[in-house]
Amino acid sequence: GEQMLTDTYGRRHSYLRISLTERCNLRCLYCMPEEGVDLTPSADLLSTAEVLRLARLFAASGVDKVRLTGGEPTLRSDLVDITAGLRALPGIKAVGLTSNGLTLGRKLPALKQAGLSLLNISLDTLQPERFVAMTRRQGHERVLGSIRQAVELGFNPVKVNVVVMRGVNEDEVPAFVELTRGVPVNVRFIEYMPFDGNVWSDSKMVPYRDLLQVVQARYGELERCADPRGEVAKNFKVPGFCGSVSFITSMTKAFCSDCNRLRVMADGNLKVCLFGANEVSLRDAMREGASDADLRAIVSAAVDRKRAAHAGMFELAAAPNRAMVKIGG
Ligand code: GTP
Ligand code: 5AD
Ligand code: SF4
Repeated sequence: GEQMLTDTYGRRHSYLRISLTERCNLRCLYCMPEEGVDLTPSADLLSTAEVLRLARLFAASGVDKVRLTGGEPTLRSDLVDITAGLRALPGIKAVGLTSNGLTLGRKLPALKQAGLSLLNISLDTLQPERFVAMTRRQGHERVLGSIRQAVELGFNPVKVNVVVMRGVNEDEVPAFVELTRGVPVNVRFIEYMPFDGNVWSDSKMVPYRDLLQVVQARYGELERCADPRGEVAKNFKVPGFCGSVSFITSMTKAFCSDCNRLRVMADGNLKVCLFGANEVSLRDAMREGASDADLRAIVSAAVDRKRAAHAGMFELAAAPNRAMVKIGG
């Protein structure tokens, strides 16, 4: 029978996030410094075949959901092939993508055709000028277009990720809620998290309880909805609205005790937690001729070292990690 990847705290890992590239066509304030980050040479990134080999191995160990991230995953030319390849793997029930939406639109029909089932799009502002300030690039209209197109293609819900930064876009929380009135989008407000190079401070993070208060002051009591197991959001709805509103409370109410996630980075490192610098190279093992059993042993050993929970926001801000753009969330 199939042996799940279970850690020492009994958490079963059924969700794999694969970062496909370190490149991005935006430079979001909360993700990386203005000058960008040093990129891994392309020969040292996982190939299409390596990505699919690893995914097959994880699927044989109980992973049933894969989400593709980056950097910006639509910059990877084999994205459609990888999506189709993942969808064809025994055991994989859902393939998701997290994109900034800038160059997503033109690829979306092919992705849907290839079996993409879940789509999350990042958009932190509804104001064109502020988009330039937050992403240090142009393209607001194209992102809005991708969201519209995703809804039209039937992705339901389209999740819209909004990282809320104090003094930057916090005043747009009601406008984002308003978006859910007539459109089947799930707007998710995310607490700003610390990563290398993103100059995090707790004063720039807007806690969940403040966000909820702002929304309820305007819209009245929200309806609490179910939170599917293994998802990171607390889900709500404005009664009568078509879409929904959620909060991702990584900093003030961590959800580590239910964690079901593992991550493979674009350079082939396995990361068992979003935070912390503990990584192991699956790429090197593969290129040195590791068998599937060898790889499985390396993964199991890493999962066994996974901590109960992340250390708390101030510890995280001080601990070494990667830049977010090299993790993919
Ligand atoms: P689905 O549940 O499949 O919709 O995906 P998701 O919400 O986990 O993925 P997405 O890439 O849209 O990420 C949304 C936010 O959740 C980002 O800010 C991520 O960094 C954060 N996030 C994703 N996974 C984890 C996790 O394991 N721990 C923490 N603390 N935050 C996470
Ligand atoms: N804190 C919280 N969320 C972040 N994201 C990127 N950087 C951060 C951060 N510092 C979000 C992106 C994207 C998702 C993968 O992670 O906006 O929606
Ligand atoms: Fe899982 Fe680490 Fe995220 Fe906690 S911080 S939910 S342990 S990945």
